[in-house]
Amino acid sequence: ASTLGAAAAQSGRYFGTAISSSRLGDSNYTTIANREFNMVTAENEMKIDATEPNQGQFNFNNADRIYNWAVQNGKQVRGHTLAWHSQQPGWMQSLSGSALRQAMINHINGVMAHYKGKIPYWDVVNEAFDDSNGGRRDSNLQRTGNDWIEVAFRTARAADPAAKLCYNDYNIDNWTWAKTQGVYNMVKDFKSRGVPIDCVGLQGHFNSGSAYNSNYRTTLQSFAALGVDVAITELDVEGASSTTYANIVNDCLAVARCVGITVWGVRDSDSWRSSQTPLLFDGNGNKKAAYTSVLNALNNA
Ligand code: G3I
Repeated sequence: ASTLGAAAAQSGRYFGTAISSSRLGDSNYTTIANREFNMVTAENEMKIDATEPNQGQFNFNNADRIYNWAVQNGKQVRGHTLAWHSQQPGWMQSLSGSALRQAMINHINGVMAHYKGKIPYWDVVNEAFDDSNGGRRDSNLQRTGNDWIEVAFRTARAADPAAKLCYNDYNIDNWTWAKTQGVYNMVKDFKSRGVPIDCVGLQGHFNSGSAYNSNYRTTLQSFAALGVDVAITELDVEGASSTTYANIVNDCLAVARCVGITVWGVRDSDSWRSSQTPLLFDGNGNKKAAYTSVLNALNNA
């Protein structure tokens, strides 16, 4: 196959990208995005500050622009994200305790109702674990009680039973890291107690050098063995090493429940860390060496 999406589809997987509504008028950008990818994540437009700027008043203008562009072009959409310590609107940042807990529940219900039956995967909870000690990240949500994550998942299941519900995080790639083990143990606990969770998203923001480790495949396999799908949800690699990109793709392809890969932007110039040139297309929209490496890996599956 000659595009990333078609190549991934050969093994029943998708290949996606983050899309920014502010770039939908850029034809160089939309031409590449439409040609290469068959899954779309809104880079910012479905987050809490964007969708509920004032408490109880939902705004889906930019989220729907991305959703409609994707669906009109035959793509699916991953929902990102419903409960997160970051990109909270000011009103939510100032809440605590039971008022914040209820606001979280209302937010999940409001956004999921708007997209009910239309979003195959939702990142229900994003980045809830501490970077170093394997425990929970301190946040206003965490301070509402340790059960906030399972409440978010139970709320989400009731709001849209058709959506697969994901926990999404970064730095859970290396199997030996405490953070990886912390998330693994939470998913294991949720599965054992019947808390509804269907997938783990590994963001995949890799730095150059040692950040990618060959035990990544073990991590993907270990999560999958708990009975959840896994996905690489926000892939970018500092310097875009072709070898690192190919290793990551091959690791996903080796795991039956690794359902797809999403890169976190189209061209280097679209990236949240553009100076590190981490993506598959350069700022002019030309295919980089890493693009060919990824395409070949997908075609050789
Ligand atoms: O929309 C406003 C604009 O009105 C304002 O003029 C401008 C001035 O700074 O800011 C604009 O908002 C920015 C937004 O991106 C849209 O461009 C925010 O400041 C900026 O903080 C925001 O950054 C996003 C970041 O999440 C915020 O946490 C990045 O685009 C986005 O790529 C990044 O994505 C996250 C994932 O959601 C979760 N995992 C990590 C990943 C990378 O940080």
